[in-house]
Amino acid sequence: MAKVKTIEWKDDALVLIDCTKLPAREEYIECREYRTLVRAIKTLEVRGAPAIGVSAAYGVVLAAMQAEKETADKQDYIKFIKGAIDELAATRPTAVNLFWSLKRMNEKLDSIKDMDMDNIKEELLKEANNIFDEDIECNHNIGKYGNEVVPDGSNILTHCNAGALATAGYGTALGVFRYAHSHGKKIHIYADETRPLLQGARLTAWELVKEGIPGTLITDNMAGYCMKLGMIDMVIFGADRITSNGDVANKIGSYSVAVLAKEHGIPVYSAAPLSTIDMSIADGKDIPIEQRDKYEVRSMFGVTIAPDGIDTFNPAFDVTPHEYIAGIITEVGVIKPPFDINIPAAFKLGHV
Ligand code: MRU
Repeated sequence: MAKVKTIEWKDDALVLIDCTKLPAREEYIECREYRTLVRAIKTLEVRGAPAIGVSAAYGVVLAAMQAEKETADKQDYIKFIKGAIDELAATRPTAVNLFWSLKRMNEKLDSIKDMDMDNIKEELLKEANNIFDEDIECNHNIGKYGNEVVPDGSNILTHCNAGALATAGYGTALGVFRYAHSHGKKIHIYADETRPLLQGARLTAWELVKEGIPGTLITDNMAGYCMKLGMIDMVIFGADRITSNGDVANKIGSYSVAVLAKEHGIPVYSAAPLSTIDMSIADGKDIPIEQRDKYEVRSMFGVTIAPDGIDTFNPAFDVTPHEYIAGIITEVGVIKPPFDINIPAAFKLGHV
């Protein structure tokens, strides 16, 4: 188990570790209303594709609890919950896990809408708990399969945070590192700091230190030089959405890392659960990319680092074309190219 509790359902509330406060302070946010969660997702207090999906499922439970207090009319009650699902879905556009989990909760709601309100809440809670448990199980399996492609003694570069803090626990890319390290492999992780919001410096480095996994923090612009010096053997990062042809949307900067890696003959893996693969999109160019506020580029921790007058460009994610990806590490095995054949096969067979 990871030594971090990212998401917890406790005493009829959703408790989240506040990712914006780490590593300075370990603070928790208690959501008793779904709109507290809507805000937490938008501000990245909870972030990372699987963590957003899992917490949104609990957001639907919060909405059901609120709806029961708001109205005794069943139609209004269902309408309230569906409205909350729409609001949760409008928080962040790129990570497909959010839509995957809300679709699952919505379908559950449709299948139990004739029950009384108390039972509906209980059933929704069960479904959210299932999504939570499945995510942790997926991560452990991702760790196990990922470990098979990590040679002993590897130096691995990662980008952003795909750890326990980005999932219900354990992590995807960081799940591989956790698994390899805890099974006695000697690995060393190089963590890109990940501007503009420094998920690598603040979150990945924090998890590595907490877990005792050997790691080195570098600024984003050092990755190419580290590769040139022979310091990196492989790259493993997470994913926010993978298309059916294997294109991978992940934190901005992942594409640059992948291009550099190709130049240096270094394999790049993306670690993600099958729920991150969006089979409805055939090509990465159609993935909606979130654009965030200019202040994130113009400032750091509230300190202005660029003049107000300067324009900015602040996409939160980029897309790495499948040609740059050596494999997708999932809970059913490592999917290798050709992805347009092997991804559908992995879904169909349930194994690789
Ligand atoms: O903007 P963020 O912090 O939500 O971006 C997170 C990432 O890009 C992660 O790499 C991705 O969600 C995978 S998390 C297991």
